[in-house]
Amino acid sequence: MDNKGITHYMIFTLAKKFEEEGRDVIHLEVGDPYVDIDGEINEELCRRAKMGYTHYSSPYGIDEFRVTAAKYLNNFLGTNVEKEDILVTPGSKSGLKMFLDIISRDVDTAVTLEPTWSAYKGLLEYHGIRLETIKTEYRNKWRPTEDDLTELENIDFQLMILLNPSNPTGLTMDRKLVDKLVDIAVNKKAIIVSDEVYFQTIYRDEDVKNYPSILRYEYEFMVALHSLSKSHAMTGYRLGWVVTRREWIERMRRLVQYSYTNVPIFIQYAGVKALDNPGIPRRLRKIYRDRTLYMADRLERLGFKFHRPDSTFYIFASTPEYIEDTSEFVIRLLKEEMVAVAPGISFGGYRDFIRFSASYHIDRISKGMDRIERLLDRWST
Ligand SMILES: Cc1ncc(COP(=O)(O)O)c(C=O)c1O
Repeated sequence: MDNKGITHYMIFTLAKKFEEEGRDVIHLEVGDPYVDIDGEINEELCRRAKMGYTHYSSPYGIDEFRVTAAKYLNNFLGTNVEKEDILVTPGSKSGLKMFLDIISRDVDTAVTLEPTWSAYKGLLEYHGIRLETIKTEYRNKWRPTEDDLTELENIDFQLMILLNPSNPTGLTMDRKLVDKLVDIAVNKKAIIVSDEVYFQTIYRDEDVKNYPSILRYEYEFMVALHSLSKSHAMTGYRLGWVVTRREWIERMRRLVQYSYTNVPIFIQYAGVKALDNPGIPRRLRKIYRDRTLYMADRLERLGFKFHRPDSTFYIFASTPEYIEDTSEFVIRLLKEEMVAVAPGISFGGYRDFIRFSASYHIDRISKGMDRIERLLDRWST
């Protein structure tokens, strides 16, 4: 394997292979939160299935879910979302895919800030949409500079992807910065796709309250992506929703009808149970914070450099200076110590960085850090 081109996907695949061979791999490369979800959610899933909610249903999603999802957003964000503004989707990723399906003919160029989640690039490419990126830098705390914003203004784009809080940096953009980005898009009448799947992971409760969701801007050409994957640790349920203008909901509804028909109703009922309990995201954000800050302390002591996250369970760090080749470090870490991490190259070509995910239990993170320390000791001697 050529170390230089090592990607997140390659690491994930190799880690799985080692695991199948019986090796004890520590996964710090995936964003799948390991938290036991409340028993009542799983019980509701089974109860509804046993009750016979196992048939075809509305492509929009069931009313109960749409009403509850609207109420949930309005409660947390002070927005005015109505049931009719919502389409239920199998996770937010497929919400984005479906939206691009209906809009790709009208969009030639999309923009986003980097580093960012790799799926955008792949999905846009798949839809024949060119992606232009503004590369933010560590020294600017991963925020775009005034020059970056001018550069953005000068791009002729029809779609902007906003990701806030960020995967991989674990940092949240404040309202002032979001205002500036929104202004640039609005002036061009460009569509704004706002990926808000991590808003509930912002560590401080008061910051969640002030979170600058795109829904607060009441802009007509926007799409907000939401999901229970991170806020409720329900990745495997594949349950999310999009909030957007009704004309676009209608076009996506047709697509749902001609493809997967509907998200299974028993899953949506379990989702209602989850969204009805505001204590769950509050509980999880504390777990994520504790895990991530524990990992941050350990990584700092080992000589990694990064900005401490204020949200999510990710840390985007550069390796200690004596490591010249981060890709080599990533591959040796997996092969020699069975610790999988995500190479920064997969988030926009940041070769010198690694994304660490603290989505596992602290004892596993601790073991992972011990193993990293072992490799560093060998490296520096
Ligand atoms: C930024 C971002 N958006 C969306 C998703 C996908 O979430 P879902 O499980 O809702 O499809 C992820 C998953 O890692 C993500 O990191």
